[in-house]
Amino acid sequence: MKSTTSTILEAKGVTKRFGAMTAVDQVNFALKEHEVVAILGSNGAGKTTFFNLLTGLFAPSEGSIHFKDKDITNHTPAERVAKGITRSFQLTSTFDTLTVIDNLVLAYYRSVHTGSLWSLFTTKTRSLRNTPAVMEALETFDLTEIQNRNVQSLSLGEKRRLEIAMAITANPLVLLLDEPLAGLAETEIKGVLNVLRKQFGKQTILIVEHKISHIQDFAQRLVVMHEGRIIAEGGYEECMQHPEVRRSYWQIDDSISENAAV
Ligand SMILES: Nc1ncnc2c1ncn2[C@@H]1O[C@H](COP(=O)(O)OP(=O)(O)O)[C@@H](O)[C@H]1O
Ligand SMILES: [Mg+2]
Repeated sequence: MKSTTSTILEAKGVTKRFGAMTAVDQVNFALKEHEVVAILGSNGAGKTTFFNLLTGLFAPSEGSIHFKDKDITNHTPAERVAKGITRSFQLTSTFDTLTVIDNLVLAYYRSVHTGSLWSLFTTKTRSLRNTPAVMEALETFDLTEIQNRNVQSLSLGEKRRLEIAMAITANPLVLLLDEPLAGLAETEIKGVLNVLRKQFGKQTILIVEHKISHIQDFAQRLVVMHEGRIIAEGGYEECMQHPEVRRSYWQIDDSISENAAV
């Protein structure tokens, strides 16, 4: 019988040094298929560096990265994308002068064809707008109403939803997101989280976030980083009660507050 909880992406003893500075320190981490995990930690904790080790932007100084039990430590970011490990498109990779629907067409096309984008522009964009996958993405991610707007006219929240929709349209096995909520207003945050919730059970999602309130009802499992190390891992309550999280992340000194609690 096929296990439903097999590990899909794993870091084993991963360390990343920048000169004398250790940004990620001996991290062991396993992401299971269809899990939704959040990496939490204050600024400078090493979250983005760890994220970049998973996506292949950085090579680890020590340790290894595995995808479905295969060592991918030496794989380039493009090779990892081809395997199904995708980070959300950044703002710079939406095409600002094109419409929402044509950006989705591009994301879809890139996932199913290896031909040049130029051939797509010159011959196929219009016909591909009716592709079921593109229609479905518009609907699923609440983009139908804004499908004909140019990306440059979108709000940051609308743009972020499009980026995530584009990443998802490429149908990755693992979706990696580094602070997708940064810079968004509260209502836009709800919109982005709702878009992601629609993928629960279908995709494996790893989200990096520094604000706990944003992902407390979202992720199934939290991983808390501090000074390059994972200091706690588990459910929300478990992590919040963890002495090292209280001390390092919340900067609560339990010995003082106990004495002070008269
Ligand atoms: N390219 C780099 N060169 C040198 N130091 C870096 C680089 N990237 C990150 N760092 C350092 O590594 C530490 C962790 O940074 P980062 O991974 O960005 O943390 P976070 O994403 O949790 O805020 C910080 O002290 C940061 O200054
Ligand atoms: Mg960061």
